[in-house]
Amino acid sequence: VSGQTTGVLQADSVKGITISKHIYGHFAEHLGRCIYGGFYVGEDNTKISHTNGIRNDVVAALKKLKIPNLRWPGGCFADTYHWKDGVGPKEKRPTIVNTWWGGVTENNSFGTHDFLNMCEMLGAEPYLSGNVGSGTVQELIDWVQYVNFAGKSPMSDWRRQNGRDQPWNVKYWGIGNEAWGCGGNMTPEYYANLYRQYATYMTGFADAKNMFRIASGASSNDYNWTEVLMKNIPANLISGMALHHYSVIDWDKKGPAATFTEQQYFTTLQRAWQMEELVTKHSAIMDKYDPQKNIALVVDEWGGWYDVQPGTNPGFLFQQNTIRDAMIAGMTLNIFNNHAERVRMANLAQAINVLQAVILTDEEKMILTPTYHVMEMYNVHQDATLIPLNLKTTDFVQGQEKLPAVTGSASKDASGRTHISFTNIDSRKNQKVTLELKGSKLSSVTGRVLASKAIQDHNTFQEPDKVKPAPFKDAKLKKNTLEVTLPPASVVVLELK
Ligand code: AHR
Repeated sequence: VSGQTTGVLQADSVKGITISKHIYGHFAEHLGRCIYGGFYVGEDNTKISHTNGIRNDVVAALKKLKIPNLRWPGGCFADTYHWKDGVGPKEKRPTIVNTWWGGVTENNSFGTHDFLNMCEMLGAEPYLSGNVGSGTVQELIDWVQYVNFAGKSPMSDWRRQNGRDQPWNVKYWGIGNEAWGCGGNMTPEYYANLYRQYATYMTGFADAKNMFRIASGASSNDYNWTEVLMKNIPANLISGMALHHYSVIDWDKKGPAATFTEQQYFTTLQRAWQMEELVTKHSAIMDKYDPQKNIALVVDEWGGWYDVQPGTNPGFLFQQNTIRDAMIAGMTLNIFNNHAERVRMANLAQAINVLQAVILTDEEKMILTPTYHVMEMYNVHQDATLIPLNLKTTDFVQGQEKLPAVTGSASKDASGRTHISFTNIDSRKNQKVTLELKGSKLSSVTGRVLASKAIQDHNTFQEPDKVKPAPFKDAKLKKNTLEVTLPPASVVVLELK
């Protein structure tokens, strides 16, 4: 039996809202093998193909995703990081103990130049996360001066001495991370004041209008955090309000990443679906103080979080990535697209070898995860105009609980092509989708699908292409009606012309 989903694609009521490409951002923390071994293998590596120590296979894969921005160096690590230890001759750099992640000693060989030059290679905007927890205002404004100041000054001279003449003009700056937790266990009132202080001095060396300052935001449903920050931070000091939400079953019992049960699958997707309520409610609070929607909601950490792969360092957060993760990604990106008026930036946690990664590496080997494929399929929405899509779908039921089976979002790109993305999380049933197409004349449809036999299916170094997109044939266009049959647990992206 199939489920039935009906709906209307409302091309007649487009409001001119752009789905910012920055919703498709990524996150790279000094955590486990994300930076060291993931992005960076060292200038002297002879086994792995690289450019100045940066893996060429990783750069090529992320460019294909059209990665728009990359957040660095954390996460919790950011509030322990002192950027001055990561510039200048590598052999002279002091070490740092990564107290949050595995207690490992790092040699600081991947620092500001390495990161910002890598962003240039990727064609991605850097998003620097400043140290508020254990840093100082001076340290952060020195960083701004170092990376953004074109004139003559102690920091820009030091940058030149270290091999970079022109500034990088970094636009996106996070002022602390999880200030309510690893970033200093602060109250929102205390952090709001500190934020004001940091934000005031940061703009001295750059064009303040072009600088996008992001406040460390709430954890999931801590609405009071958003309320206090919105109330206490003057609008001229803030461009983005962050939010972190992970799809985790239970922080003490997260469950396996690949050998999960049907119940664990369902509960994970329940947590992911919570994102709809979270962005709605945080946005409503922001609307009270910022009805013009000048301040973006920046979901700068999201994704599935499970037990680490058995036998790996528990502090490294290495996990496999299955069809379940593809469902989280497809559903979450639909939510973000549909809330694009307020949600204008987001960062999947994390890019490589950590949590819901798009890439996994093992020495010279690299594989793409199901999540990678969803990000790649969905990138057609980047900077396209949102088309409202109203869906009425059946429930995906587990015991007494239920979730909407199908989510979707739609957009029109600059060359006039319409794209519709659907995610059917129902692991047992097909979904027959019947869409009325209002206000658009479309005569052809093509598409791609990501699905597999089992929801636990994933790619491995032995079988790297077990889960990958395939052409999709189950979409038919009849006059103003689109009929699509979505396989169980699938992501489908259609192109209509
Ligand atoms: O992404 C892993 C960690 O999760 C980040 O360092 C932190 O910000 C969050 O708690």
